[in-house]
Formats: sequence, C-alpha cells, structure tokens
Amino acid sequence: MSFDRSIKIAPSILASDFANFGAECAAVETQGADWIHVDVMDGHFVPNITFGAATCAAIRPHIKGIMDVHLMISPVDAYIEDFAKAGADFITAHVEATPHIHRTLQAIRATGAKAGVALNPGTPASAVAELLDLTDLICVMTVNPGFGGQKFIDMSDKIKTLRAMIGNRPIHIEIDGGVDPKTAPIVAAAGADVLVAGSAVFKGGSVTDPAPYGTNIRNIREAAAGVYT
Ligand code: DX5
Ligand code: ZN
Repeated sequence: MSFDRSIKIAPSILASDFANFGAECAAVETQGADWIHVDVMDGHFVPNITFGAATCAAIRPHIKGIMDVHLMISPVDAYIEDFAKAGADFITAHVEATPHIHRTLQAIRATGAKAGVALNPGTPASAVAELLDLTDLICVMTVNPGFGGQKFIDMSDKIKTLRAMIGNRPIHIEIDGGVDPKTAPIVAAAGADVLVAGSAVFKGGSVTDPAPYGTNIRNIREAAAGVYT
C-alpha cells in the first residue's frame, strides 16, 4: 500500500474540556477527526504544564484511531517507555529538547511506536537532515510551543524544504499551531499532510453539542483541498 499523504485533521485536545477528555476525543472522532493530537507540557521546556502519561493512558480507550502524542518536555528519554505503554501511536520529541535526538528517536522506535521529531519556528529544516531514516513524522511548529490559540507563523519555506528532503520516504509532515481555514491552504500547498488544530476545531461546540466540531473540521479539510469558499 502506498504511503498516505492525504490531508489528515488532528484536533488538539489542548483546546477541549479538560474535565471531559474521553468524551471530547470520541466527539471529534465521530465528527470526522482523523487523528487525536495530545499535547504534553512540562513547565520547563515550555512555559506551561498540561498532563503526563497517566492521562494519556486514561484517554486511550476513548480513541478509536491514532493517538498522536506531542512531547514538549525536557528531558524526554526517561519518559518514552511510559508514553508507549500509555498507547501512543506516534511519539514526537523536540529536536531542541535534547542533545541526543538521534538516540531519542531510536528509543521511541524501539518501543514499537512511530517516531516524530518537532522543530520550533526558530529551528531550520537542516536540523533533521541526519534523522530522516529514523523518523516517521516531522512536526513543523507554526507557533512557539506552550499555548493554544496563538497567531500562525508562516513556515512555508521550511515545509517546502522538508518536503524536498523527504522525497519518497514514508514521513508525514505535520503542522502545529494556528491552523484554521485561512492558514490550512498555505501549509497544504507547501507539502504538509497532517494538520493539528486546537481552537479552530473546538470553538463553538461541546460534548453535548458536537456538530460545530464537524463543521469546523470540514471547513479546515475543504480549505486545505482548495475548495473552501
Ligand atoms: C502548542 C501545541 C499545539 C496547540 C495548537 O504548543 O503544540 O498543539 O494546541 O493549538 P491551536 O490550534 O489553537 O494553535
Ligand atoms: Zn502540539
């Protein structure tokens, strides 16, 4: 089977009701989400704290598809096993979070999870040049990590450079931060296939009124496909 480069929408539960993660995950999946994006923050690598592996394990049974765990933590290696045991399909670590990202990616793959590497806006595409054979996903941050609802930073040139570097390798390009129907076409045109969106998916809806989630997901997907009006 050929590698799936079609657009995938990955709602970030950072923008959901923290008292209702299980129901929120189920609601966005029912409303058309492809992956669920889970933001883990430590108050050290980024200036905000969310939750850890125990919470990921608790929400796992409520997710039918892919659980995509974005680790904004430093150090990272000591926690990889915990997130793999929690049922993460993808575990993504930041290149800026460790002096030994090569080892970190090896350690993620050794658990059986897919290995992702994330780049802050200030980090060039060349930072992953020696990592391509160890990587299943490159996450291009289009905000400085730590908070949802920030303004999109255009990283089109970096995305295009990465797309060319990847060639035929089975590596996803994921975009994280400020994705909405206006910015989705920019990143899709540059070569991204996984679009993380927090605020733009969860706005206007709730677990008791999930239809707006579906409308929001559809609007982002159609915008990325160039048919949004
Ligand atoms: C930022 C997180 C993002 C964030 C995206 O540090 O990694 O996943 O939740 O949120 P929005 O879509 O609101 O920018
Ligand atoms: Zn994220």
